[in-house]
Parts: sequence; C-alpha cells; structure tokens
Amino acid sequence: MEEMAGRDNMPEGTMRNVLDQKSLKWVFVGGKGGVGKTTCSSILSILLASARSSVLIISTDPAHNLSDAFQQRFTRAPTLVNGFTNLYAMEVDPNVENEEEEGSDAMDGFLSDLANSIPGIDEAMSFAEMLKLVQTMDYSVIVFDTAPTGHTLRLLQFPSTLEKGLDRMMSLKSKFGGLLGQMSRLFGVGDEVGEDAILGKLEGMKDVIEKVNRQFKDPDLTTFVCVCIPEFLSLYETERLVQELTKFEIDTHNIIINQVLFDEEGVESRLLKARMKMQGKYLDQFYMLYDDFHITKLPLLAEEVCGVEALKAFSKHFRQPYDPSITQGTVEELELRVSRLQGQLRDVVSELEKVKKGKQVL
Ligand SMILES: Nc1ncnc2c1ncn2[C@@H]1O[C@H](COP(=O)(O)OP(=O)(O)OP(=O)(O)O)[C@@H](O)[C@H]1O
Ligand SMILES: [Mg+2]
Repeated sequence: MEEMAGRDNMPEGTMRNVLDQKSLKWVFVGGKGGVGKTTCSSILSILLASARSSVLIISTDPAHNLSDAFQQRFTRAPTLVNGFTNLYAMEVDPNVENEEEEGSDAMDGFLSDLANSIPGIDEAMSFAEMLKLVQTMDYSVIVFDTAPTGHTLRLLQFPSTLEKGLDRMMSLKSKFGGLLGQMSRLFGVGDEVGEDAILGKLEGMKDVIEKVNRQFKDPDLTTFVCVCIPEFLSLYETERLVQELTKFEIDTHNIIINQVLFDEEGVESRLLKARMKMQGKYLDQFYMLYDDFHITKLPLLAEEVCGVEALKAFSKHFRQPYDPSITQGTVEELELRVSRLQGQLRDVVSELEKVKKGKQVL
C-alpha cells in the first residue's frame, strides 16, 4: 500500500503516546461542534483510568453531554462513574457563578462590578475557582471535554486574563490605599469582609492561576488533543486551533480524525463512494500538514457511541491503527462484494415481483 509506505517514519497513528505519558496532568480535548469531542474525551478518560491511579473528566461545555455519553447524571461535584473505582466526572458551566459557595456573595457584587472594567474576568474567576477546587483533589490526570473551538481557546486564555486583572487590582491598592476599602463598601461588601480579606483571597487565587498557567504551558504536564472530521471546514478549523495553541504555548501533537469511511464492506453506493473519495483528499492533506502529529483515525459507525460498553468497544481504535480486515482487490474481497451484490439483486428482484403481483390483484 503506497499510502502506508510513505508513513513509515511518521509518529504512530494511535493515542498510545498520551496513554503512556505518565507525567500528563491536564489533557484538553477540543474541536468544532459535533465532531466527537465528548465521545473521544470519554474514551480517553476510560483508557486513562486503567493506566493511572485516578482520573477526572470535566465538561466545560454548557450543553453538558458527558451525561449522554456515559448515560449517567453528573453535576458540578465529581461523581464516580458507574462501573469504575477511579474514574470521576463533573459538568461545570463556565458562564454560571457558583451561587451556593460560601462567602461568594461579597465577591460576586465586587467582582461583577470589576468585570465591567476587565473583560472576561467573571468567567475567568469561576474557571479559576474550578481549577482551584480540582487542584486540591489530587487526581493523577484531568481530562477536559471542552466546548466548541472558540470557547475553548478563551478558557485557556483565562489564566492570563485573570492575572492581568489581579495585577491591576494590586496596583490600584498601592495607589489608592484606603480608597479600595471604601470602594468595596460601596459595592455592597459588608464591613466584616475588609479589603485585606478580599485582596487576600484574590492573592491566593493569583497563586493558583500562576501555578496552573505554568502547568498548562509545560508539555510534560499538559497536552491538547484536536478532534476533527475529514472535511474542508474541519481541516481549516484544526489549522486555526493548532496555530492558536502554538501562540498560547500549549503543547499539541495528537489529532483524532473521526467519522472516517472505510471501504472495507465493499460499499457499492455511489454517494458513499464519492464521500470516501472526498475524505481521502482531506485525509491526505491532514497527513501532509501534520506529519509530526500522531493522527488517529476513527471509523464512522452506523450507530451512536452511547454508554460505557459502546465507548469501551470503540476505544480499541485509540490503541491500534484502524486495520480494514479485508484488503481491497484480493480474491477474497471481490468474492465478498459479488455475494453482497447478488444478495442485493435478489432483494430488488423479489420486491419487483411483489409489486407486480399486487398490480395483477388490483
Ligand atoms: N465515529 C462515530 N460513528 C458514529 N457516531 C459517532 C461517532 N463519533 C461520535 N458519534 C456520535 O455523534 C454524536 C456527536 O458526538 P459527540 O457528542 O462526541 O460530539 P461533540 O464534538 O462532543 O459535540 P458537541 O460539539 O455538540 O459537544 C454523538 O451522538 C456520538 O455518539
Ligand atoms: Mg460534546
């Protein structure tokens, strides 16, 4: 096979590198809407659960679809996934403040006013709260099922957004001193929560953020897995994503190409054949553009990938490159195709006969 020959010195076409990299602490899974991010991140978390001591999968997508994939309800609190002893899942909405959290009332009023001057700090703050929480829980690896592309990159920018905001607060404090205390009272912060308490909390948050920011930029600790499908728009979007990640200094060297049509079933449909040809064109381009990436291809299935059993079954493609069981052009494959076509022909002939008989009766 010519296609294979050229790929000899390319990285292996599986996700094994991610499963084997024991130093990884944060694994982001992202890509365009509907390409299979939730499916892939769920499978990754299942596979990691058998390689690492404890795994947490977090969905930062407001659409919360981990519950669909695992067929189990999840909340903001990490919940053990049924059938596992070390795999936890949680669904957070980065747009919603955690209202029940103690002491957040004072912060909310204060921060939401601050948010007017520092764009994105509100969201950044709840992301930071979540990271802070997760940090203290001591999971060996945390997988993020992220929201579609634009949103993901914004999340990854949060640490620096927040750092800037906090720096500004600090310089405000040194410039205006006691004025900040008056400001906080003005913004509805009670007397019992002094400026020092607020700044202390922000200062603490800043430490977490700085730490996480460093971790996100460390390829030993963090990697981003791009999920896509073999189509023009997805190729284009993936290139944009990879460039943005490079800009943010976030490591990425795995691409999962989902919904690939393989011609192993002797497909006779003209539509499918045309789609396969089109996919082939974009697959070639992926291999050309990302020859230093691990590119994992996943077959398009006839059914959805729902529930732990289906996810587990599909996970084999993360460990082994997809290998069509029958090689094209062999006697075996041609015989199979002939028998399939004969079957189809028989079906159509019998249907025609039925219709003809029906007409005679009328
Ligand atoms: N290779 C595949 N073959 C068949 N169905 C698939 C495949 N991959 C994913 N699916 C199904 O497609 C649907 C979308 O997949 P998934 O939810 O993983 O995408 P997503 O990228 O997370 O979507 P969103 O952007 O909406 O969060 C799901 O119902 C899933 O079961
Ligand atoms: Mg999803």
